[in-house]
Amino acid sequence: ANMLCKVRQMRSCASILNQTVSWKVGSRQKHTLPDLTYDYGALEPHICAEIMQLHHSKHHATYVNNLNVTEEKYQEALAKGDVTAQVTLQPALKFNGGGHINHTIFWTNLSPNGGGEPQGELMEAIKRDFGSFQKMQEKLSAATVAVQGSGWGWLGYDKESGRLRVAACANQDPLQGTTGLIPLLGIDVWEHAYYLQYKNVRPDYVKAIWNVVNWENVSERLQIAKK
Ligand SMILES: [Fe+2]
Repeated sequence: ANMLCKVRQMRSCASILNQTVSWKVGSRQKHTLPDLTYDYGALEPHICAEIMQLHHSKHHATYVNNLNVTEEKYQEALAKGDVTAQVTLQPALKFNGGGHINHTIFWTNLSPNGGGEPQGELMEAIKRDFGSFQKMQEKLSAATVAVQGSGWGWLGYDKESGRLRVAACANQDPLQGTTGLIPLLGIDVWEHAYYLQYKNVRPDYVKAIWNVVNWENVSERLQIAKK
């Protein structure tokens, strides 16, 4: 009788544990669209309100929704031990996960009080690694304008060498996940980021975006990246 009691206890304990585990998986936090700290029209005349509104509330929101759907499917595949399904889901994870990561950085990289030049350690690092602020600007602009099709230009931090680097990524490939560089400043050159205002003239959009770069945010990112 004592043994039976122990088995029952163990079963009830296992069932509680099971419930806890499934509750934890079920309540896994969904990704959410981050709020902007400025109005959609605040970056005008450099980026118009209509672009900002569509870009944030439609495009970024879609990456967030599809990331949540993909993660749910991925959890199911993991639970079933279905490696084929996991591999099949990886492109969607990269695309929507990258889209969410990239845009989340992008909004904070911009500010209605932005523009000008950075100060302090970031400026010193730019001068050391590119020669001057203007040279960095030219190099990042050129790499960004040259992205074939949709993608991003980045100023990133290479933790191994302790240096800043310019890089370009295709599609929504996230900088750190695909190159190892830590993202500091991203320029979105998907047509959804500029076409309504700049039409086919991507270089004009890239030129204008420097007027709203939030250098304080880029500096903070460098500080965190160096830790
Ligand atoms: Fe975008």
